[in-house]
Formats: sequence, C-alpha cells, structure tokens
Amino acid sequence: MLDAYNRKITYLRVSVTDRCNLRCRYCMPEEGIQLLKHDDVLSLEEIAEVIREGAKMGLKKIRLTGGEPLVRKGIVQLVDMIKQVEGIEEIAMTTNGVLLSKYAKDLKKAGLNRVNISLDTLDAEEFRSITRLGNINDVKKGIKAAQEAGLTPIKINVVKTKFSNKQNIDAIKQFCLDEGLNIRFIHQMDLETGDFSVVEGGEGGNCQLCNRLRLMANGDIKPCLFSNSGFNVKKHGITEAFQLALGAKPLEGTINQNHKFYNIGG
Ligand code: 5AD
Ligand code: SF4
Repeated sequence: MLDAYNRKITYLRVSVTDRCNLRCRYCMPEEGIQLLKHDDVLSLEEIAEVIREGAKMGLKKIRLTGGEPLVRKGIVQLVDMIKQVEGIEEIAMTTNGVLLSKYAKDLKKAGLNRVNISLDTLDAEEFRSITRLGNINDVKKGIKAAQEAGLTPIKINVVKTKFSNKQNIDAIKQFCLDEGLNIRFIHQMDLETGDFSVVEGGEGGNCQLCNRLRLMANGDIKPCLFSNSGFNVKKHGITEAFQLALGAKPLEGTINQNHKFYNIGG
C-alpha cells in the first residue's frame, strides 16, 4: 500500500478494546468512559479477517493496543490467529503490564514477538496516583514474566508530563539499564489541540516516515492518530476501507476531536 505521498504502509495498530483496568490521569476520566456497545466491537474473527485482507495489501507488522489489550477475552487466541496470516512478520503489543504475568507465556507460545509496557514511574505511590487504580508490583511481575517468556526486546513507554521530575526520570532510566529494557519517552499529547511531538527513542510522531494505519475496536480504519477521519470495515468492506484510509492519510497530523487515547491506543 502506498499513500498519496508515496509512504509505504506496512504497519497496522489494532485497538482490540476500549476498556482498561487503569484510569491514567492523562488518558481516562476517573469515572471511566462511555464504552462501545458489545455489538459494535469487532469479533476476534472479524479482526483477523481485516488483518488477512491487509496483509494481502502489504501489511507486515501488527501491534495490539487498547484500551488495555489484555482485558479483551480471547486475546491469546487472537495472537494465534494473526500468527497464521501469511505476510505478517511481526506481532507486538502495547500493554500496561498489569495482567502480563498471567499471559506472557501463552502469548509467546501463540506467536507474540514482543511487548511495550507503559510505566511512568517506579514509585509505588506515584504510580497509584497516576493510574488511580494500579499496583506497581503487578507491572513489575509482568515485566519479569515478559523477560522470562522471551517477549523481547521489551520497551518501556514513559509518558512525560509537566509533573514529571528529573529524579523520577533518572530512576526509571537506571532501572531500564539494569534490567536490559529499552526506554522511550512520550510527551503528553493532546489530540484535540493537535499537540504532538516525536517519540524519543521511538518511531511515532514523525509524519514523513509514517508507515501506519489504525484499526479501532469498532472497525474504523483510521489514517492518522491526529485526524478525524475513519472508514468502517462493516460499512465499506475491508479492502475499500483500507483504500479510503490510505487516500485520506494526511501529510501531517492535525487534530482529532473524535477519539481519545483510551480508544485509539496511542
Ligand atoms: N499523551 C501521550 N501518550 C499517551 N498515552 C496515553 N495517553 C497519552 C497522552 N495523552 C500512552 C500510554 C501508552 C501509549 C499507548 O499511549 O501511556 O504508553
Ligand atoms: Fe489504560 Fe493505557 Fe489509558 Fe492508562 S494510558 S488508562 S493504562 S489505556
């Protein structure tokens, strides 16, 4: 797939659910969100079908996101289904890590290659304060399980906000160094105002090099995180929805007033 600016699209980020077991301050309101209706969420088979069609059109890499992908029932089975798709060379996941100790081994066995884990601080209290619900020990166990299962190289995603302090950042840098983890810093973004920047140590946010499309849990294929448009696979058919999203892919991101991080998965 080539877009209008000759960028080759090989990467699909797949939001498998809008649900999450945390309520990070920069991502979700405390009371939670208006969730998608069950009937509006693509089934595992429908997601796999979108990926099969996409692979025929040139997709090579899949990243599963959410919400929190590990709260989706059948997530291991989905990885297994994606693994069978001809042309898909890599399957990755972005998770908050809370449920990872439970699933790491099975995910690896099903064919997941690696994980990115969101962790903004090593301090238990600060972690609870940022996530409102989380216990950092669960994430630490999750990281260990991912290492043991070989879901590597593991990347730690650190969202930097105006509240992050240098000491905290240094501590998490040192932790990653000690544990052999890669680290990436993401500046807090604002979809509504179009406030975004490149991810330090990552690929995101560099429009010229962008190789990705997004599939939302409701079946919308989105051309860009910072764009309002989306084309539903049930309405348009899968191939046509891919073509429309490809055609609508902007040279640069602008704003997205229709989505939030919790349903687009970063
Ligand atoms: N700005 C930047 N990153 C965000 N994430 C969630 N909300 C925001 C935001 N407002 C991140 C998560 C995770 C990734 C999927 O998106 O921390 O690492
Ligand atoms: Fe959940 Fe990730 Fe949003 Fe935190 S940032 S509430 S872990 S989706």
